[in-house]
Amino acid sequence: MNIAVIGAQWGDEGKGKIVDLLTRHVSVVARYQGGHNAGHTVNVGDAQFILHLLPSGILHAGVRCVIGNGVVVDPVALFAEIETLSRQGIDVGDRLLISDKAHVILPYHRELEVLAEARRGDRKIGTTSRGIGPSYEDKVARRGIRIADLGDHSDDGPLAAAIRENVSARNRAVGGTEVDWRVVHAEARSVWPRLESWVGDASLFLARAMDDGARVLFEGAQGTMLDIDHGTYPFVTSSNGTVGGICTGLGVGPKAIGGVLGIAKAYTTRVGEGPLPTELHGDMGDQLRESGNEYGASTGRPRRCGWYDAVVVRYAVRVNGLDAIAVTKLDVLDALDAIPLCTGYRYGGELLTEFPSNGAVLAGCEPVYETLPGWSRPTAGVRRYEDLPPEARSYLERIETVTGLPIAIVSTGADRADTIVVRDGLIARWQADAAVPASVL
Ligand code: IMP
Repeated sequence: MNIAVIGAQWGDEGKGKIVDLLTRHVSVVARYQGGHNAGHTVNVGDAQFILHLLPSGILHAGVRCVIGNGVVVDPVALFAEIETLSRQGIDVGDRLLISDKAHVILPYHRELEVLAEARRGDRKIGTTSRGIGPSYEDKVARRGIRIADLGDHSDDGPLAAAIRENVSARNRAVGGTEVDWRVVHAEARSVWPRLESWVGDASLFLARAMDDGARVLFEGAQGTMLDIDHGTYPFVTSSNGTVGGICTGLGVGPKAIGGVLGIAKAYTTRVGEGPLPTELHGDMGDQLRESGNEYGASTGRPRRCGWYDAVVVRYAVRVNGLDAIAVTKLDVLDALDAIPLCTGYRYGGELLTEFPSNGAVLAGCEPVYETLPGWSRPTAGVRRYEDLPPEARSYLERIETVTGLPIAIVSTGADRADTIVVRDGLIARWQADAAVPASVL
C-alpha cells in the first residue's frame, strides 16, 4: 500500500521526520509539488539534515527518490543540496529521478518575486524569495522552461528563444540594468551535463515500479492551508500540496494512493503573512516559539505560533481524505499548566465548526477554546504511549475526538527515535505488507 504524507496546517508540521521514519518500509519516495521553499528537517543521532528539494527518503540507502513534474526545480539549489548531503556522507548517486516535465527556476524568477512582493507593500505574502511563484506563473502562462528543455544545445533553438523572451519580459518589468539573455542561456545550458543522468519519465518509472510491487511514499511539501486552491488564498504557495497534487504532480492515478496520513503539530504555526486564527501575541507566543525552536528551516524567519486549531485540522481531513493523523512536537507543550484547544470559531452570533471558505468571514472569526489540563512534566523522548502522563494522553485523545481521526504517530522530540507509533491501523497495515521488489532498488 502506498501512503501519502501531507501537512494538515500551514507547513512546518514535521513532515520530514515522519517521512524519514516511514521510509524504511518503502522503496520509492516521491515529491509532487513545491520546490526548495520547503525545509524538511531530519535528525539522526547527532546529525541534522535539512532537505529542501530532495525527497526526505534520500537519507536511506537503496531508496529511489522522484521529483515529479509538479515540482519546480532550481538546478543550482539542487546541486548545492546534493553537495551538502555528500559532505554529510549521503550519496545521491543514481537514486534520483527528476521528471523531464518539471519546470525550472532561473535567476530572473527570484528577481521577479522580490519585485512583486515589494509592489504588494502591506499586502505582501511573505514568500520565501526562491522564485517558486514566478516559475509556476510561467508554467501556467505556457512560457515556462522544463527540465528536458535544458538539454537543447543549439545556440538558437527553443531554449534560447524561450529564455530570450522571458528575459526581455524581466527587463521590461524590473527596469534598471538589463540582464543579457545570452548569459542566462549559457548558465541554463551549463547545468545539463550534470543533470542529464537524473532526468526521465517519472510517471512511467512510478507505474513500472508499482507494477513490480514497489511501495511508494508520496511526500507533500508546505501544508493544506498553503495550498493554492484550498489554502488561505492569496496567502498561500503556488502549488497543490493537498492530496490531488499527487495525481497531477506525478502522473499517477488516484488508486495509487492507498492511505493518507496528515501531520499536525500539537499547536499551530505559520511563517509569512495571512490569517492564523489561534495566533498568540506576546509572551505565550514567544514561549512556544523558543521552546519549539520555531524558526524557518529554509529562511530562518521566526514562525508565528498559536494553539491547536481543530477547525483547521478537520478541514485538512476533509480536503485530503485523511485516514489518520500524526501529532508532532508534543513535548513543546510540556511546561504548560493548561492548554487551550480551539474547537470552533465565533462569527457574529454564530458558532462555526467548519473552516470558512470565504476570507472575509474568516477575518471576522474569533476562536472558541476549551482548556485542557497541562502535564507539567517532560514527555520529551517518551517512546511508549503508556509512558505519557495521563494529561498528555487526554490531550491527544481529545484531539482524536475533535478531529474525528485516530492518531497514528506521536512525535516527542526531534530525533528519529523519539516517536510513538500509537495505533495498529494505518501504519501497522503498511508495515505488515512488506514486499519490496529488488528490481526497483
Ligand atoms: P512561496 O512558496 O515562497 O511562494 O511562499 C508563499 C507562502 O508559503 C509564504 O507564506 C511562505 O512563508 C509559505 N511557505 C512556503 N514554503 C513553506 C514551507 O515549506 N513551510 C512553511 N511555509 C512555507
